[in-house]
Amino acid sequence: MKLVKLLIVLFVLPTFAQQGGMWIPSLLKGMNETEMKNLGMKMSVEDIYSVNHSSLKDAVPHFNGGCTSEIISPKGLLLTNHHCGFDAIQNHSTVEHDYLANGFWAMKMEDELPNKDLVVTFMVSINDVTAQVLDGVASITSEAEKQKKIQENIAKVTASFPKESWQENKVRTFFEGNQYILFVTETFKDVRLVGAPPSSIGKFGSDTDNWVWPRHTGDFSMFRIYADKNNRPAEYSKDNVPYTPKHFLPVSLDGIKEDDFTMVFGYPGKTQEYLPSFAVAQIVKELNPAKIEIRDAALKVQDGFMRKDNAIKIQYASKYASVANYWKKWIGESQGLKKSNAIALKQNFEKDFQQKVTASGKQNEYGNLLPEFEKYYTEITPYAVSRDYFLEVVAKNTELLSLGYKLYQLEQVYNTKGEQSFNDRKENLIKAQEDFYREFNAKVDEKVFEQLIALYGNKAPKQFLPSTLINADYKKLTSTLYSQSKLVDYAKFKELLKGDAKSVLKKLNKDKGYLFVKSLADNYTKNVAPKYDEINLKIAALQRTYMNAQLELYPNTRIFPDANSTLRVTYGKVNGYEPKDATYYKPVTYLEGMMEKYIPGDYEFDIPKKLIELYDAKDYGPYAENGKLPICFIGTNHTTGGNSGSPAIDAQGNLIGLNFDRVWEGTMSDIHYDPAICRNVMVDMRYVLFVIDKFAGAKHLVNEMKLVHPKKK
Ligand code: ARG
Ligand code: ASP
Repeated sequence: MKLVKLLIVLFVLPTFAQQGGMWIPSLLKGMNETEMKNLGMKMSVEDIYSVNHSSLKDAVPHFNGGCTSEIISPKGLLLTNHHCGFDAIQNHSTVEHDYLANGFWAMKMEDELPNKDLVVTFMVSINDVTAQVLDGVASITSEAEKQKKIQENIAKVTASFPKESWQENKVRTFFEGNQYILFVTETFKDVRLVGAPPSSIGKFGSDTDNWVWPRHTGDFSMFRIYADKNNRPAEYSKDNVPYTPKHFLPVSLDGIKEDDFTMVFGYPGKTQEYLPSFAVAQIVKELNPAKIEIRDAALKVQDGFMRKDNAIKIQYASKYASVANYWKKWIGESQGLKKSNAIALKQNFEKDFQQKVTASGKQNEYGNLLPEFEKYYTEITPYAVSRDYFLEVVAKNTELLSLGYKLYQLEQVYNTKGEQSFNDRKENLIKAQEDFYREFNAKVDEKVFEQLIALYGNKAPKQFLPSTLINADYKKLTSTLYSQSKLVDYAKFKELLKGDAKSVLKKLNKDKGYLFVKSLADNYTKNVAPKYDEINLKIAALQRTYMNAQLELYPNTRIFPDANSTLRVTYGKVNGYEPKDATYYKPVTYLEGMMEKYIPGDYEFDIPKKLIELYDAKDYGPYAENGKLPICFIGTNHTTGGNSGSPAIDAQGNLIGLNFDRVWEGTMSDIHYDPAICRNVMVDMRYVLFVIDKFAGAKHLVNEMKLVHPKKK
């Protein structure tokens, strides 16, 4: 009995501890394949990625550069998150047809709605081009020259690598510049909206439930890819036809249970798993607190207005959600990094690293890495903090300043590129600002400005502030700018930009709002950015060497390349977790739990009448499990921003869910993945099918899919 237990512990512990990682789909053979099979996978890695025959990767395109999507029918039907399709749904919404509030379903193909500027990109092949990109680089000593040569080599291989005329070549760096991969891609430009549930389903729980488990959000929307008569990418045309995919995902009706194998396939954006302890300390102690405080102030002001005024609520809903998303993430991230002792763990690793360096006689190559990191991170901190203040206050969270900053860049364009470029950019800016002003309220922004500019003046490193900001009367400054600047109104803004470059710049340089932005931006570009960039380049070079050293000195460790918006595989299992002492979170939520959260009329927790009726009648069709309708589930898949909309795939390659978030306690996974508490959140495909079929009455879409029962063979 004892022996059996010991064997179980020995067998189970390592596989559990080994989870995490975002792997390159063409390189799964070996260690990953073994792990995946141990976790229960029944496919071969060629079923996931193959250049010779169709494979899962042919069904998983990048959705508009920021999210992931998957094809679920032979006619190019595409699934992604509601929050990924949000802009498209919003753009088609009017007061009479409010698709955000009521949902939208095309009952036949002619009713599907085209979307200007919405694209999906397939990854056709993965090709290692490290040798070509690093050709002639090793002998160059200056880091800047090195980077220049690398860029030239990338341009060369991008231009010469064989591809079809409708395809593109893109080179991306892996392992911080130790590996380069060229992707051949295909981008489809005619992508039409097919359906979306109302926000009370697609965004249920909204900002309160964001980054939180247990969750009950039906975060999905549907599109269709259209192609020309040859099944190739084409601009929108009414003559285009539904795309015939090389592969589409069958949908499993059997659902999941705890410990089932899951794999998430998608385009994770950015992680920083190999930072030295000094960098993590900077994030926890300096950068996150500053950014959180700024956004906290901005959100409080906006929320105050939104609660009192319905028109402002509509105007600011999308902006508020976007600012709140990372505000909330950073709070969770800082807490998680502290709770998991990430800095101390990194320091322990660094001790071990240093010993390994000495033991392997690599003192010359790697012995100075950590002391140098420490030196440069100490040196860069005030610049990094100033930079974040500038970016958060000026470029992101104060609308007057962010618009002013765009005009500042316009003036730079005139100075560096001349009149023609100035005019082109000016025209684009005028057009683009129409949307800006539609969602702009000067009263709200004025209050945000007053708070944020005081934080900037009081808390950002003093040595990099223009004198106008130190000990200023922020109230007076605010009322002067907002009563006198022409930037607060679209008509005045257009007036300001009328005429040739010289007269526009003359007018701009008399506007109080513009002059204020200019003083901040000049100061930033002269006193912060150059030094920040200079030290950052050195840090990047150290990080490249540090990465190389880890690959060399820890050959048997699972080291995966940080996310870089390229297609990756992450795998794990359906699993609950302990968020705090004496508490266990189960891995599956049900419609019952959604009903427990129901607050009639609330903008986050209202539930559509039809859904309540279906619940009362327990009318779930074939989508229930023991009389209960599952909604969301969590697993140990290592995901990040960009993985939204990624398919959750079962052991046989069928679609079981749609990734859309992570749990609060595990949001630090971008910097430090802890398998005990990092979980990704997925919406169950059975709930998606239920909403389409029973709730929306769009059964014809379900009929287009291939529904399977992998567990009942
Ligand atoms: N936290 C998720 C992600 O980072 C979902 C964001 C959209 N939802 C929201 N309530 N803002 O994208
Ligand atoms: N919600 C994120 C996204 O939109 C996913 C995540 O950060 O876990 O990609």
